[in-house]
Amino acid sequence: GAGFSPKEFIPTKEDYAKIYEEIAKRLEENEDYDDGSYGPVLVRLAWHASGTYDVETKTGGSNGATMRFQPESDHGANAGLKAARDFLEPIKAKFPWITYSDLWTLAGVCAFQQMGGPVIPWRPGRADGDISACTPDGRLPDASKEQKHLRAIFGRMGFNDQEIVALSGAHALGRCHTDRSGYDGPWTHSPTMVTNNFYEILLDEKWNWKKWGGPAQYEDKSKSRMMLPTDMALVKDREFKKYVEKYAKDQEAWFKDFSDVIAKLFELGVPFKQEEKWTFKVVDA
Ligand code: HEM
Repeated sequence: GAGFSPKEFIPTKEDYAKIYEEIAKRLEENEDYDDGSYGPVLVRLAWHASGTYDVETKTGGSNGATMRFQPESDHGANAGLKAARDFLEPIKAKFPWITYSDLWTLAGVCAFQQMGGPVIPWRPGRADGDISACTPDGRLPDASKEQKHLRAIFGRMGFNDQEIVALSGAHALGRCHTDRSGYDGPWTHSPTMVTNNFYEILLDEKWNWKKWGGPAQYEDKSKSRMMLPTDMALVKDREFKKYVEKYAKDQEAWFKDFSDVIAKLFELGVPFKQEEKWTFKVVDA
């Protein structure tokens, strides 16, 4: 008879919701990592998988999940993301029908929502590629640079000034690790909660160069928070600063714009068949 064959299995929204719930559960079960959550590094994985997109050649982007392969996994910008990829392996083993490329972006959505962020519309449709689809090194931003570099890198993905500033607020989350990027410390005092605090402190704190042997970075007076040169470029540049001021004053405005721009980032270059975007409920895991 027509027995079950994995080829005939067409997953529904409910099937993807189960994966969302499983990721949320795994986040809750692994609170001994870093500042208490794998959430930030999952967001960074989804962003680095997507941010390789090039509008001109239509290469890169989340479709393909080519960071599974060397050389892309070894690109300097991706240092430390193995922790996020490994975190998701048990989920992939339990739901082998989801592609890595869908899983990584769904994990970014789940992590962001579970940490208190806005709902992010998402849809499936990414296919895993092979090693030949790996993107060349240098497509992701270099934190030691400034506004010209940010506009070049994000412009190549198709983003404007407002979108660059909106995306950058993700640095409310997580931290820099000396054994990954070489930089050190968190941006905010609440690195596992989504807030607009990145913009507030960028404007309100006094930032000085950190005196140390590592790469040039800024620190606040209490020496407990940091900024990268690229973060500081957002207040040095007049056009960027307008949006920093807007988002510092209005968290709801940032939530709305962030949700739009991150959904766009995760979809760059993906040849979707499905029109409809789904939203998943935050779960009490
Ligand atoms: C972490 C650079 C934009 C999300 C980091 C780190 C660097 C960096 C150097 C530290 C990595 C480590 O040592 O573990 C940059 C630069 C950007 C940028 C130069 C250009 C604007 C973004 C965007 C997002 C993002 C657009 C997401 C929308 C994150 C998160 C972390 C992080 C969540 C924390 C990861 C963790 O705690 O493990 N970024 N980033 N970043 N970045 Fe960015």
